Amino acid sequence: MKRSGIGAIIGVAAASAVWAFGHLSSVPKAINNVVSRRNFVRNAALGAVLIVLGQLAAGFVRFFWPNKIGAFGSVLTVAASDVPEAGGQPFTYTPGKFYLVNLDEGLIALYWKCTHLGCTVPWVASEERFHCPCHGSIFFENGVKESGPAPRPLDYFPVTVMADGSVQVNTGAPTERHDFNPDQAVPYP
Ligand code: FES
Repeated sequence: MKRSGIGAIIGVAAASAVWAFGHLSSVPKAINNVVSRRNFVRNAALGAVLIVLGQLAAGFVRFFWPNKIGAFGSVLTVAASDVPEAGGQPFTYTPGKFYLVNLDEGLIALYWKCTHLGCTVPWVASEERFHCPCHGSIFFENGVKESGPAPRPLDYFPVTVMADGSVQVNTGAPTERHDFNPDQAVPYP
């Protein structure tokens, strides 16, 4: 076979191979493009549906979630007539889970939750102390620990004295402390 004939055959074979390769590689690419476009459209639609469902769920929860008006976690009002005399017995405000105590320094609202393991700590008038029934922690009238396993004093809530003598207690903001400081009490007229 002449050289030019061999060259022609090789040229044709090479051209065929290039065409076949190009054809073969373009088929999956086209399929891939269609598939990825489909995926994109499907994911976008799914995302939109999820966003709408999420918004509906959030609206539903917000609508049915109980408002914290007048309940623990909100600002609660103690009537002037319930504010104890200076040195008197603490006033127990059950919905707010606190005791309002009138100390020499002023009013302090003590969260009744024991700082040990969270039991409710009652005021024991005969001892003039808060006495936890669970593991025996005892707290003075200002909430500071006298004895027992509690690691710190009872927490307290911010108190605001109103013009009419009533007192607002923010039960959503318990404050931890490690000792009593007069600044924790609010002077009461
Ligand atoms: S929970 Fe009050 S002492 Fe343990």
